[in-house]
Amino acid sequence: MAVTGAILVLFLVGHMTGNLKAFFGADSFNEYASFLRTMGEPLLPGRVALTIVEVVLGVAIILHMWSAISLARRAGKARPVRYAARRKAQASGYAVHTMRYGGVVILLFVIYHLLDLTFGTVNPAGWDGTPYERLVASFAPERWWVTAFYVVAVLMVGLHLRHGLWSAFQTLGLASGRSYRPLKLTAAGVSAVLVLGFLTVPVAVMIGVIK
Ligand code: HEM
Repeated sequence: MAVTGAILVLFLVGHMTGNLKAFFGADSFNEYASFLRTMGEPLLPGRVALTIVEVVLGVAIILHMWSAISLARRAGKARPVRYAARRKAQASGYAVHTMRYGGVVILLFVIYHLLDLTFGTVNPAGWDGTPYERLVASFAPERWWVTAFYVVAVLMVGLHLRHGLWSAFQTLGLASGRSYRPLKLTAAGVSAVLVLGFLTVPVAVMIGVIK
């Protein structure tokens, strides 16, 4: 869980930073999108490096879900009888719900997101438009519901990340004694920065700051 989670967090940090290029205009954003397709050249032919990144991401997502399911099964087998005491445990109730159902919402969001901004299938600017045109078309003010969906999905990503980071710190044995509070704050801080960074672009397009 932790290794695949770390790969996905690194991707999110890079992706969020790259998205902010939209504030520097169409050329800056399109140049960045084209860099993604040509990175590694001339050592590697065009799109090879991007394809490797995409395969790593895809495998990381599948293994992340597979680990989650097998860990949940293992936990169920280890304790088939419910605890008599209803004490609030670390990995129960709220956390299990956010991680499980939040994870499913995030997966559905990523599928929509790829059809929207990567393939243009559900985007008014379509496949022929530039990446910047697709971005501006997707979050246009009259399509406020798309931005609203992105806001909900990104908040889910934030909650998922906060709990995931915190669990990873605990798994690694880092979160004990004096490091408990600072690490809890780190998990919340990293997630908040990512959420805010991701949300600025769709909201800026919706209110006309990016056009
Ligand atoms: C909310 C603000 C976001 C914006 C404005 C945004 C924008 C974009 C754009 C423009 C692309 C296409 C890049 C291109 O084809 O050149 C893209 C691809 C992608 N985005 Fe996002 N994104 C956002 C959030 C997210 C989140 C939260 C996730 C994951 C949970 C995500 C996952 C992906 C993935 C997996 C790709 C495909 C990458 C690839 O082709 O290798 N995005 N995004």
